[in-house]
Amino acid sequence: MCGIIGYVGNRKAQDVILKGLSRLEYRGYDSAGAAILNHDGVDLIKRQGKLKILADALAKKPIEGKTGIGHTRWATHGIPNDRNAHPHTDCTGKIAVVHNGIIENYLELKNSLLKDGHKFSSQTDTEVIPHLIEKFYKGDLEKAVVKAIKLLKGSYAIAVVHKDSPDRVVGARLDSPLVVGIGKGENFIASDVPAILDYTNSVLYLDNNEVVTITRSGVKVSDISGGQINKKPVKIKWDISAAEKSGYPHFMLKEIFEQADVLRKVLEERTERGKVSFEELKITDAELKKFKRIAIVACGTAYHAGLTGKYMLEEYAKIPVWVDTSSEFRYRDPIVGPGTLVIIVSQSGETADSLAALREAKKRGAKVLGICNVLGSSIAREADGVIYTHAGPEIAVASTKAYTAQLGILYLLTLYLARLHKTITPARYKGLLKEFERVPRLMDDLLGEYRSEYNTIAAYAQEFKRYYFARQNKSYFLYLARNINFPNALEGALKLKEISYISAEGYPAGEMKHGPIALIDENPWVVCIATQSKTYDKMLSNIQEIKARGGIIIAIATEGDKEILHHKVNYMLEIPKVAELFSPLLVVIPLQLLAYYVAKEFGYDIDQPRNLAKSVTVE
Ligand code: AGP
Repeated sequence: MCGIIGYVGNRKAQDVILKGLSRLEYRGYDSAGAAILNHDGVDLIKRQGKLKILADALAKKPIEGKTGIGHTRWATHGIPNDRNAHPHTDCTGKIAVVHNGIIENYLELKNSLLKDGHKFSSQTDTEVIPHLIEKFYKGDLEKAVVKAIKLLKGSYAIAVVHKDSPDRVVGARLDSPLVVGIGKGENFIASDVPAILDYTNSVLYLDNNEVVTITRSGVKVSDISGGQINKKPVKIKWDISAAEKSGYPHFMLKEIFEQADVLRKVLEERTERGKVSFEELKITDAELKKFKRIAIVACGTAYHAGLTGKYMLEEYAKIPVWVDTSSEFRYRDPIVGPGTLVIIVSQSGETADSLAALREAKKRGAKVLGICNVLGSSIAREADGVIYTHAGPEIAVASTKAYTAQLGILYLLTLYLARLHKTITPARYKGLLKEFERVPRLMDDLLGEYRSEYNTIAAYAQEFKRYYFARQNKSYFLYLARNINFPNALEGALKLKEISYISAEGYPAGEMKHGPIALIDENPWVVCIATQSKTYDKMLSNIQEIKARGGIIIAIATEGDKEILHHKVNYMLEIPKVAELFSPLLVVIPLQLLAYYVAKEFGYDIDQPRNLAKSVTVE
């Protein structure tokens, strides 16, 4: 995905754009650019590479002007270079556009525009937009934009400026997020709230097929048939410091350490005097009682949260649950209908595959519940009901606090449904909720062991790096677990591979004998999640099988477990004693920190890992 920003007001547009793009850099960072209106017309600057390169260029040669647009790019069509960076212009250079999304019919449009004599300078899909606006422009920028976007297929969030209208920016969206910031004598358009929170906390969320024109004096929203729309501004409750590093070296580490508070908030906001409630659920108890099955659909880390949800929902709410990745669900022929509750889990609420899965499920008559973190996101708005995780902005590409918040919501939903279906006694319900309420404190204690940067996991990461090079870079990671912690094996592997670029795979430990054990020799470091559980003895056997073949083991065990010491694991990390049901919330902490410190050892960009984006808003 990319980050876009537009500004009209009395400040230097360049400063607002750079600040806004710095808050959006997590959305895309392979190139950046800006277009600012002044007496010279449209002043354009674009640079490949991180935002700092653009900022340095503007520091050397500032651009005057109080209206402008800016962009940080995550390349889809066209390699990252200056030419393909946004903004893109029309033939005259009077129109500039920034875009987040994919124009699926851009080749057809480009060929037709080329036939009309338009000249293109990039390989991007986006560049068709300014040329279409040029084609339709007869003096009214908004009208020309509306005519242009009606021809677009795919997804877009755009901001447009025109030399002849230096007092305005026009925006529009379809399946890519766009928020409007309402200021005093100034207004903003952006992909996400952090870009404008330095200036205002009053925002409007644009919906699909809506067009907005911002000027100093006001904001006008209309639909693409021209009808005016009155939208009520929303007050953002968190401030910009929540989207800053607050002294941590990386957003990821900050967000790892925020998890105990996030979980505390999940519990405080959703439980009162032992009763669980979801005020924005909008799906009634009567409807919830009717569902015979639940399908949980998500991508990446959110998918792992969904897999964990299966274990808890089946065991305690006694409802059959199946879990699917969004990209598979949307292209299968999923058997979902009125008797199925489809839960779409998505931190950003903008993941293209998950949004498509939501629409597929609704088309088939299923009720859809979204579990999202970003307020007003597309999935949150299109689902029949939503439960917000309220984890605050998650800036690091590697998802951590959103994952534990998703688990927290799924635990509460399990208890809620178990009570509704009377599959557990009131006493059992009370006991489970009481145990859950212990977890934030236990998490605080666990995190407390790693507050210093010189900690056990950092030492293990240094040891791994030495071993990796000693083994001529042939070392990698396997993660093994069973039952409700099996999804954590997948999550631990994903965390490590996505920020350290070292191969890592998660397996159900019981699968080792069916093939993966052939991998065991001196190369892999095998993380075994062997906490106190109904499958603990089986995990000890797995550890023996691996030791017998020269494997290196990092065991994650329960504090005070003496038995595992007899199994001569190479490294050990402990978590506080907790009911097995809630252990995933604690087990994931050392997994996240291991990934963080290994990536730090190898010197990679932990918050903005290569090839990745925070939310995959394209297929
Ligand atoms: C997780 O660390 C990754 N950033 C990625 O797998 C992510 O979880 C996935 O893209 C889903 O994103 P979403 O929750 O915003 O839908």
